[in-house]
Amino acid sequence: MANPLWRKKSISDLIHSSTNQERGLKRTLTSTNLIALGIGAIIGAGLFVRTAAAAAQNAGPSVTLGFIVAAIGCGLAGLCYAELSSSIPIAGSAYTYSYATMGEFIAWIIGWDLVLEYAVGAATVGIAWSEYLNNLLVNVMHWKAIPYEWCHSPFEVSTLGVHGMINLPAFFIVALLSLLLIRGTQESALVNGVIVVAKVAIVVMIIVLGWSFINPVNHTPYIPAATTYIDSQNISHNFGGFWGVIGAAGVVFFAFIGFDAVSTAAQEAKNPGRDMPIGILGSLIICTVLYILFAHVLTGMGTVEDFRTTGKEASVSFVIQKYMVGYSWLANLVTIAILAGFSSVILVMLLGQSRVFYSMSLDGLLPKSLGEVHPKYKTPYKANLFILVIVGLFAAFIPGDVVGDMTSIGTLFAFILVCAGVIILRKTNPDLPRKFKTPWVPFVPILGICICFLMILGLGWTNWLRLGVWLVIGLVIYFVYSKKNSKLNSPNS
Ligand code: ALA
Repeated sequence: MANPLWRKKSISDLIHSSTNQERGLKRTLTSTNLIALGIGAIIGAGLFVRTAAAAAQNAGPSVTLGFIVAAIGCGLAGLCYAELSSSIPIAGSAYTYSYATMGEFIAWIIGWDLVLEYAVGAATVGIAWSEYLNNLLVNVMHWKAIPYEWCHSPFEVSTLGVHGMINLPAFFIVALLSLLLIRGTQESALVNGVIVVAKVAIVVMIIVLGWSFINPVNHTPYIPAATTYIDSQNISHNFGGFWGVIGAAGVVFFAFIGFDAVSTAAQEAKNPGRDMPIGILGSLIICTVLYILFAHVLTGMGTVEDFRTTGKEASVSFVIQKYMVGYSWLANLVTIAILAGFSSVILVMLLGQSRVFYSMSLDGLLPKSLGEVHPKYKTPYKANLFILVIVGLFAAFIPGDVVGDMTSIGTLFAFILVCAGVIILRKTNPDLPRKFKTPWVPFVPILGICICFLMILGLGWTNWLRLGVWLVIGLVIYFVYSKKNSKLNSPNS
């Protein structure tokens, strides 16, 4: 018999098991719901927090070029996602596709890696939510800020020397949204739709109103000369030049994460063959245009020094308050919209994570209880509760920069495997009906792999190390538990 590490799920079994009435999820989402789900997941901390971080640490105003590099990588990977999700419309995203194309071992690695994308990503946005909550309390409501120690991780120290202990607001929002998800996807999609409209409106307003406040001095030189920047945690970054732009691309790549989360909802789409490609690519295109314009305006108003010091937290609202005189109402509105917007991102990430765990549990790679669907709400509620605990811990105790970069590197790695999956599936299953076909295979997937790899390089060795440690932990779990309990050991059980 072939080595069990490379055993694959058959695609027809996958599609068959998704129609299993007893355990199946409800098919309720339309293509409009999916685009909203995509934008809901995409516009968030990446734009409103990581843009300023990338300008400060890597690229200054040329962060816009970083957005373009990241968008190209995502577009290419998105085309691959669209092909896979329209031919294998099953919950579980890249994990499921790789199980059918590259075998169980790679599928496990991707599934484990997706925890970085969804769970750690949700924690990152939870932490950003906490930053803007303080901004709401102080600048909008004119109350007192939450004491530093209760809204920062133990690894952070304030400029006044106060040490963080736990990030309670970040934990709170994660817990609240996990409970909402248990209540049901359709209801959650409705809340999400309202928030998406507010979020897009606010981004457009900042672009339009902020444009006339751009100070050309801040855009000169557009690409700063190459040097090194050491941040407050003593980590050094390539600033300026080619590697500055690539480093910025890796950081702001976070802002695009989420369009692929649409594919995790394939099992709940009414017409996956048509709706998935529209949902994935539609949301990606809209966001790319908005991001480039937004980053141009933000770096035109604020200076790199602002983003390294006083404007490091809640940067967008800081810049509006400081430079757009007479527009404090906009800063207030932004704060409120951002808080709502971040919530929708967290919601979709938690949704994606629970569906990945759901699929892995049905396959026996994770304990069975994570695949149990709530009798009334038809949601994988035990997976949601388990994720609440993991994400809550990350959000409460790890700094935002660290989890943010871990999310980026983990997702880039998953994208590379998805691009490879398209090439492999074309060879192994040439006749599989594909409602959407990636153009110019293998050129598009190979270019996607190269650009994602370049961004991984740009993220620097501390992040390579974190990814390595994460994957080693995953391997231990696979060999101790998952390999033995895999359904493919006893397909009839
Ligand atoms: N793209 C999402 C965000 O920026 C993860 O918050």
